[in-house]
Amino acid sequence: MCGIVGYVGSKSACDVLLGGLKRLEYRGYDSAGIAVVESGQLGILKDKGKVRDLEQTVYATWDETFRRRVGLGIAHTRWATHGSPTAANAHPHTDQSGRLAMVHNGIIENYAALKQQLAAKGHRFLSQTDSEVLIHLIGEFYQGNLCEAVCAALKHVEGTYGIAVVSADAPEAIVVARKGSPLVIGLGENETIVASDVSAIIAHTRQVIYLDDDDVAIITRAGAEVRNAHNVPVSRAVANVDWDAGAAEKGGYEHFMLKEIFEQPDALQNSLRGRLDPAMGTAILSGLALSPRELAGIRRIVIVGCGTSLHAGMVGKYYFEELAGMPTEVEQAAEYRYRNPIIQPEDMVVAISQSGETADTLAAVREAKQKGALVVGLCNVVGSTIARETGRGIYLHAGPEIGVASTKAFTCQLAVLLMMALKLGRCRRLSRQTGIEIGDEIRTIPDLVKRVLAGNDEIVRVAQQYATARDFFFLGRGCMYPVAMEGALKLKEISYIHAEGYHAAELKHGPIALLDDQVPVLAMLNDIAGRDKMVSNVQECRARHAPTIGVVTEGDTDVVQNVDEIIRIPRCSHLTAPIPTAVALQLFSYHVARIRNCPIDQPRNLAKSVTVE
Ligand code: M6R
Repeated sequence: MCGIVGYVGSKSACDVLLGGLKRLEYRGYDSAGIAVVESGQLGILKDKGKVRDLEQTVYATWDETFRRRVGLGIAHTRWATHGSPTAANAHPHTDQSGRLAMVHNGIIENYAALKQQLAAKGHRFLSQTDSEVLIHLIGEFYQGNLCEAVCAALKHVEGTYGIAVVSADAPEAIVVARKGSPLVIGLGENETIVASDVSAIIAHTRQVIYLDDDDVAIITRAGAEVRNAHNVPVSRAVANVDWDAGAAEKGGYEHFMLKEIFEQPDALQNSLRGRLDPAMGTAILSGLALSPRELAGIRRIVIVGCGTSLHAGMVGKYYFEELAGMPTEVEQAAEYRYRNPIIQPEDMVVAISQSGETADTLAAVREAKQKGALVVGLCNVVGSTIARETGRGIYLHAGPEIGVASTKAFTCQLAVLLMMALKLGRCRRLSRQTGIEIGDEIRTIPDLVKRVLAGNDEIVRVAQQYATARDFFFLGRGCMYPVAMEGALKLKEISYIHAEGYHAAELKHGPIALLDDQVPVLAMLNDIAGRDKMVSNVQECRARHAPTIGVVTEGDTDVVQNVDEIIRIPRCSHLTAPIPTAVALQLFSYHVARIRNCPIDQPRNLAKSVTVE
């Protein structure tokens, strides 16, 4: 979604802000803008289009002396919600006086009513955005103290916001505030930088403060003074970011997605590191902060998430039920939050989110906490809101995931869910010996993924056969059913091919009517339980002339004759098989999208972190 960067310090604010916006491009956006304060004046440049367009405008409009002199500013990439992408709707927006400027992420839900009240007082609006209403409101309260004006205005606001506000009269400070939209402050040497995402900060400093909801902060080059919504100072811990700027760069790959697919053996190794106990045949997951006795007392698991994280949860259900004998439900987070869910005292709610900022998943966490559930977070982004609000959980340690299409986070989510199921199983019904054997299987995961990656060229060849398709079906059974759904999601989001992930048994209850020789079917024919039924389902597709691709286990020669093309994955247990299979499907989608010349890292209409409902 939208990206925010703010800077105050001894460097050129223009350079730092443009550099920060480039780091946030992966989030998906349609407009970009910048506001700087210099010699008691605001300078604002903004338009629809890319950050490189904004950069050209900055260089054409402000000469080098000016750009070097400017030490304070705010900048934004906008992902349109209220009003289409235009220069007028791009941020920063100004108040009625034109002396305050603001960038905003989130949605001001009561903006229409506020706009009417302000218009009645003579305010004139230049955009269709909810954000412009907020800066006008702040301007209405402004009497020389920006922080007071921000606090006063926010009392009237319903909705979500991460904001950064500057005043032409205050060239030394930026006021920021958050509610439901993340903001991180980076503390450097004689400079302070604020951003919606730590990746815009790490080139400057790794010392950061994650703001909480309802926090307001005054940012100067000396640091940050954090206050609560009533303008009373509060203390917030300084954290150290444990990855560097290089981790968020492409490193020679054509796309972040490809880099992240190929990083998976290392990412998975990092996820597993130190977490398997070979002697006791269990997993060591200290972030859960629960004793074996407490874990044994859990009666039901409810998993919530969205998109790829939801699919990971669906695989997790198989793990928890099989290894721990634990009833498990998986719910789309938005459905869960609005359904008045029933929560029992012995329930454990597991919230899965790569970003840790997804609005619906966060709201589901809050609902579950409100009802007294034990809530555990499975997040990748350290210090993210869900990670902090759950208070207990397991980090994926996949490293920064920049591509909009989630890849390494998914496989690490599966690895972590499998370790969780092993741990819960050992607290309940699994023998030590079985636990040791499962631990041994889990340890092979990075190598299984390496072997899939070694078959990349073969997957390219298959992708070339099907890159012109308009529709696709992905079929699976058992724990391969959610993997099929995830494969279809990957294909549709980056290649724009309509793809459906279906349970193979469900196909003949309707969708089979769509099959003909133009609709390829990609079937999970892994040599695990249910394979023979999958083969029968594929025959049903072939009888309707659908071209078929099978994901098959290496050495399983019987199945090969049943499909037109094959993608091989190494032989492994049914517990680990979803991971190499998912990697093969990621590569397939990636190559199809590349052949179709799609903007893989920033697909149209999508954002990396969905912080609105
Ligand atoms: O950050 P989260 O895991 O909570 O994100 C959830 C979804 O928005 C995300 O998985 C989305 O579906 C991806 N684009 C899938 O590749």
